[in-house]
Amino acid sequence: MSKLKGKKYNIITFGCQMNEHDSETIAGMLQERGCSEVEDRRDSDITIINTCSIRENADKRFFGTLGQLKKIKEKNPDYVACVCGCMMQQQHIIDTIKAKYPWVDIIFGTHNIHRFPQLLENVYQEKQKVLEVLEDREEIVEGLPAKRLFKHKSFVNIMYGCNNFCTYCIVPYTRGREKSRNPEDIIAEIKRLVADEVREVTLLGQNVNSYKGVDTDGRQWDFSDLIYAINDIEGLERIRFMTSHPKDLSDKLIQAFVDCEKLCKYIHLPVQAGSSNVLKRMNRKYDREKYLELVRKLRAAVPGITMSTDIIVGFPGETEEDFEDTLSLVKEVGYDSAFTFLYSVRKGTPAAEYEDQIPEEIKHERFNRLVDLINEGSAAKNAAYVGRVERVLVEGLSKKNDETLTGRTDGFKLVDFEGPKELIGQMVDVEITEGKTFSLTGKLAE
Ligand code: 5AD
Ligand code: SF4
Repeated sequence: MSKLKGKKYNIITFGCQMNEHDSETIAGMLQERGCSEVEDRRDSDITIINTCSIRENADKRFFGTLGQLKKIKEKNPDYVACVCGCMMQQQHIIDTIKAKYPWVDIIFGTHNIHRFPQLLENVYQEKQKVLEVLEDREEIVEGLPAKRLFKHKSFVNIMYGCNNFCTYCIVPYTRGREKSRNPEDIIAEIKRLVADEVREVTLLGQNVNSYKGVDTDGRQWDFSDLIYAINDIEGLERIRFMTSHPKDLSDKLIQAFVDCEKLCKYIHLPVQAGSSNVLKRMNRKYDREKYLELVRKLRAAVPGITMSTDIIVGFPGETEEDFEDTLSLVKEVGYDSAFTFLYSVRKGTPAAEYEDQIPEEIKHERFNRLVDLINEGSAAKNAAYVGRVERVLVEGLSKKNDETLTGRTDGFKLVDFEGPKELIGQMVDVEITEGKTFSLTGKLAE
């Protein structure tokens, strides 16, 4: 008999969409065993912290949160504290937890999420802690349930891991090598989601452009083959994907934007830096010109495509001139939005050993200049939407006000507008009345 039935759980998620989706899977597995989610972790029997290792401040936030669980454990000795995710793939983190946070009961990594319910049963039945992370040698496990954050849109993993070893990045060490899911499994999953009222899927992977799936007949599928097949799924309205590596973005994929009406005309294309010099030291395998050429090709083939990016400021050795190359690239591309990051040393990566680290105050000063430029660009792009009618998938009520609906345009812009709750899950036309820096406001079109 399962000891999990009736238990209350709370999940705290740090990091990217991959982690968010892993948390949905963890929630799905617990729900399947009769557990229910609670908002406040102090009311829970089980807390799971799903960690991110990409930047140093993620580590700090994690240990801060972990410290808070001690009090809950003191009040309730049956309380189970669990930690998982990318940070747990680093031995020094596990050693620190064992030494300084003895109230942790379960540690598991990114490769063995499916084993979590069993680990939990063991803790309840045998009162035994499980503090070892299993290695990344297992096959992809199919058929895990997920408790979705949104009723009408869903993440779908198409591949796991990364082979690129950008010199600043910890992901290839924490998520392991690239592994693609079988295309038939992906398509079957999306069909099930559509039957459960999902209208939009976001295909997830660290580098979806290098997807290489093999079907049951032994045929190899690349990423565009997969998009064409998903585009044929009846009842599905929209397809998005993230993240793309510019080095692997093929002409065939650009053509898929033209041919597949469900593929949203939006791309997140991380550039990381505008200087070819820095890109080389980052091991990105493209230079400034090649990236700009790609942007030109995309814009020519897909008029009106919206674009976002990731940029790192203060990579070791970045000169003022290199940084100005980033500013000029941002202006030249004209992004709709961008995620900006201060370079953060990650132990075990090549760039952590580079001697020409940039002083914090210079990093911050450059960061602020970049953010100002990006926000200015986003505000101008959004202002240009005023008067346009955009097709919006209504996702739910706005966070700010529960009289207001919220959704996204094809180009991934957030829109708030007045309307009845019954429209949630539907595609509606919205006339844009205001463009702000981070979102649009509109009204239902006549
Ligand atoms: N420091 C700062 N930003 C980083 N990223 C990855 N590693 C680091 C690091 N060490 C950023 C990259 C990536 C995004 C998810 O996080 O821009 O695209
Ligand atoms: Fe990290 Fe580069 Fe892989 Fe992205 S492509 S996950 S930045 S190593």
